[in-house]
Amino acid sequence: MDTNLKNLRQRFFEEASAVSNADQLSALRDKYLGRKSGLIAAEKKRLGTIPAEQRAEFGQQVNQLGGEVEAELGRLAEGFAAQAEARALEADKIDITLPGTRPRQGHLHPITLLRQKIEDIFVSMGYSVEDGPEIETSFYNFDALNIPVGHPARDSADTFYVSDDLALRSQTSTVQIHTMKRKEPPLRVIAPGRVFRRDTPDPTHNPMFFQLEGLNVDRHITLADLKGTLQKFVELMYGSGIRTRFRPSYFPFTEPSAEVDFSCYICSGSGCRVCKGSGWIELGGSGMVHPRVLETVGIDPEEFSGFAFGLGIDRMAGRMYDIDDIRLLFENDVRFLEQFV
Ligand code: FA5
Repeated sequence: MDTNLKNLRQRFFEEASAVSNADQLSALRDKYLGRKSGLIAAEKKRLGTIPAEQRAEFGQQVNQLGGEVEAELGRLAEGFAAQAEARALEADKIDITLPGTRPRQGHLHPITLLRQKIEDIFVSMGYSVEDGPEIETSFYNFDALNIPVGHPARDSADTFYVSDDLALRSQTSTVQIHTMKRKEPPLRVIAPGRVFRRDTPDPTHNPMFFQLEGLNVDRHITLADLKGTLQKFVELMYGSGIRTRFRPSYFPFTEPSAEVDFSCYICSGSGCRVCKGSGWIELGGSGMVHPRVLETVGIDPEEFSGFAFGLGIDRMAGRMYDIDDIRLLFENDVRFLEQFV
């Protein structure tokens, strides 16, 4: 082999072995294979100076060297490409064995959870769920519920008035009237919903709270039906062995009327923190629908009778979830609410 070519070949392989990245490789390619100023091209130019009888062999040797250089550069290029790909894969690597970050998920409010539980119980007893407006006329808020003009409940100190004749409902009993006006007995309905009172907020009072109304109107409905229904409800809600007691009370729209308590589901009546030592927990108000209310909605009180009750859902939720201030339920602090899923 021509000595120059031999030296050039040796130099190339030495330099190629020192190349450590794609940039250096590209520079090496230009240096040897550059079309105009590359070292191989320079050797080709030398062809004219070679004696005629050696030209063919020299030409062959230059071409062969060019081929070797090309092959070696290609081999190195492939190596660098493979390394670059491996680095990229390494950088993109996902460790599927790492624990994931759980996305924050919303959930139902504790009052909604309790309301749904109560609804399920009454639906299983044959009741359907009714809804009613939160802003009512005086007819639905008071007149039809037998609350006479001058009654303290009508006072603007107790009720949020929107105008002279419109007010936020202060009890879900208004839905009794809507239902009885719309449908014929027999009626078995419950009506959960928001109510509003100008009560001073404290651990057991909020100006906006939730009630659940119950109404059952049919022929021959008696106080025993009311007692049996609420007794069955507390058993399904809190477990068998829970007792109810009825204390005489007064509501203008029921006669007779009673406050209903049930024996504490924690201490079974011996007294504890949940029942504040009394052994009994308040459930709500109840009574037999007043004949005057039935007459107002066009139902004959001689033919039909009914019972009604109203439960305070917030206080029930407070006790159920051991929350000693129901106002916490309305502050919408997610850290508080997410405890009750
Ligand atoms: C009534 O509202 C009657 N409508 C219940 C009723 C219905 C009687 C049908 C007869 C027939 P009362 O004002 O007692 O009754 O309220 C019922 C329940 O609402 C109470 O037992 C209590 O749990 C809840 N409650 C009353 N005021 C508040 C308040 N400010 N914040 C939270 N809960 C309250």
